[in-house]
Amino acid sequence: MGGSAISGDLSRDALGPKISVPFWACRDYSLPPFADRDFLVLASSYSGNTEETLSAYATALERGCAVISLSSGGMLEEFSRSLGIPHLHLPSGMLPRVALPFMLIPILTILNKLGVIPPVEEDVIRTSETLKAILHLNSVETPTVDNSAKKLAVELSGYIPVVYGWRHLSSAAYRLMTDFQENSKVPAKSAVLPEANHNEILGWQASKNLTAIFAVILLRDREEPTEITARIEATRNLILRKRAGKILEMLAEGETNLQKSLSTVYKGLITSYYLAIANRVDPWETGVIDLLKRELEIRLKTKDEVSARIERLKP
Ligand code: PA5
Repeated sequence: MGGSAISGDLSRDALGPKISVPFWACRDYSLPPFADRDFLVLASSYSGNTEETLSAYATALERGCAVISLSSGGMLEEFSRSLGIPHLHLPSGMLPRVALPFMLIPILTILNKLGVIPPVEEDVIRTSETLKAILHLNSVETPTVDNSAKKLAVELSGYIPVVYGWRHLSSAAYRLMTDFQENSKVPAKSAVLPEANHNEILGWQASKNLTAIFAVILLRDREEPTEITARIEATRNLILRKRAGKILEMLAEGETNLQKSLSTVYKGLITSYYLAIANRVDPWETGVIDLLKRELEIRLKTKDEVSARIERLKP
């Protein structure tokens, strides 16, 4: 869920056509009915205590799926240790959304070791160099005039961000949205082309009093497929220009899907941090998520139920 699930989405976008088997991120208490002993389930929860993940993990074991778990501790790690399930212990003390590389890189490495995708080391090293350069260019010390993340945060201040992605930038669009929500504490939304051209665009027919509050960020790539460029331009010129409060762009960096996707995520993360500062809120505070988790834990008692299911799996 949340900051732990996005590494699954981003892996899928990064791999694109390189992956030869069905691969997706499951965000619920259970797994799709067709997930059986031929499936590998990577149960990823940074805290190791998220009830939806624990419940889906128990389902995977009950169905005989191959399972590998990832967490920085919590019940997930305890269960895996007690059942002899392979577990990757993540460094603790971070926020789940900040620990993204610690969950994403192992997923790619595991897929490579299983022979499902080609080696990723070189791509990972180049991605990390791209990210370091982005941080340098957009550091706290870099003045706004030379700092595109600070400039974008200034542009977004007072608006609701709407991020448009496509193909390998689809999950990046989703992640930018959640970073604006979680870090900057503003409502935000995201949409994906071409699907948005078949439904979402009608919402922009509302009165400009309503739509002018939205600032659109179009995710762009120097190597856009023709049909995507055409759709971005048509959507901008025919629909957004008439209604959106602002139209902005963010350009992906690098050459591979991994570099493009993560460079966009990183630019968004840094922007969401500056927007939090502009909004005078703590970017790393997530009290409402914790409050809701506690309330649901008391009402649903899912963790007790999962513990009982795990006990039944023991020989
Ligand atoms: O960003 C966050 O803190 C949340 O989205 C969490 O990632 C989400 O609640 C799931 O928790 P965890 O990642 O510990 O499984």
